[in-house]
Amino acid sequence: MLLSFQHLTSTKQLSREDTDAILKVAADMENLLEKKSGDDRLKGKVLASLFYEPSTRTRLSFETAMHRLGGDVVTADGFQFSSLYKGETVEDTIVVVGQYVDIIAMRHPEAGSADRAASVSPVPFINAGDGPRQHPTQALLDLYTIQKEVGHIDGLHITMVGDLRYGRTVHSLSFLLGLYKNVKFTLVSPRELTMPEKVTEFYREKGIEYREAESIEEGLNADVLYMTRVQKERFADQSEYERLKLKYILTPKHLVGKKCTIMHPLPRVGEIDPAVDSNPRAAYFREVRNGMITRMALLSMLLGKV
Ligand code: CP
Repeated sequence: MLLSFQHLTSTKQLSREDTDAILKVAADMENLLEKKSGDDRLKGKVLASLFYEPSTRTRLSFETAMHRLGGDVVTADGFQFSSLYKGETVEDTIVVVGQYVDIIAMRHPEAGSADRAASVSPVPFINAGDGPRQHPTQALLDLYTIQKEVGHIDGLHITMVGDLRYGRTVHSLSFLLGLYKNVKFTLVSPRELTMPEKVTEFYREKGIEYREAESIEEGLNADVLYMTRVQKERFADQSEYERLKLKYILTPKHLVGKKCTIMHPLPRVGEIDPAVDSNPRAAYFREVRNGMITRMALLSMLLGKV
């Protein structure tokens, strides 16, 4: 199955044919995992896992995905343990690493670093998060989760809650959902953390219905309630972060009589009460497993081993 891209830096690159193909291969990967723990289709292939910002899910799921398909992983985490610390550019780092490996996944704090990396990468490059800008593989795993949990994507009503300004996952997911028909957004955030203009402009250009709100109660009748963390690491003024960090806390009381599927890219830092976890519609830990499944699909497709 062919994809329309060699490098994935933004969900704006993806076509509906791409997402249909990725969701289909992801379903095949899920079946594979149910029958056995994986296979050897990526034997002899090596992934470079470059994480210059903290990560638990993205890094470990990329690495596990590679291992489950028989491939190998080399890793660099933290600026201080790489030559970026000595002043080497992202571009030089990627050209160098591309001499060793078959595919690269990179997380970096600077918006736009992924495009710079992809522009010189000699091997397929995947953006694993570039500052506040994009996190395309999170959006793909979110899409897979929505299809599984809600049963449809066309006609979806999604409420996004929290830090819509700095939360890259809601930017990436918005662009991806723009490929589907009649998707509607309710955007709940403090005024300081509203969805950036580049995303709302995209909704308007595409004729996508959206509504901005400040209270979580206004978004509870959606198909999906997508909670997010306030992104502490993006605030220059930590007192501003402290003021805004727990403006929205989802509790079981909010969900009485509601049918929404509850998602969160994680980590959560207080915005979902753990008492919500036992709600059958709390999908955020299933979402995590879907991350590994979706990344197995993407790695195998980009390496031509479907
Ligand atoms: N969802 C997500 O990107 O989590 P990590 O920061 O742990 O990778």
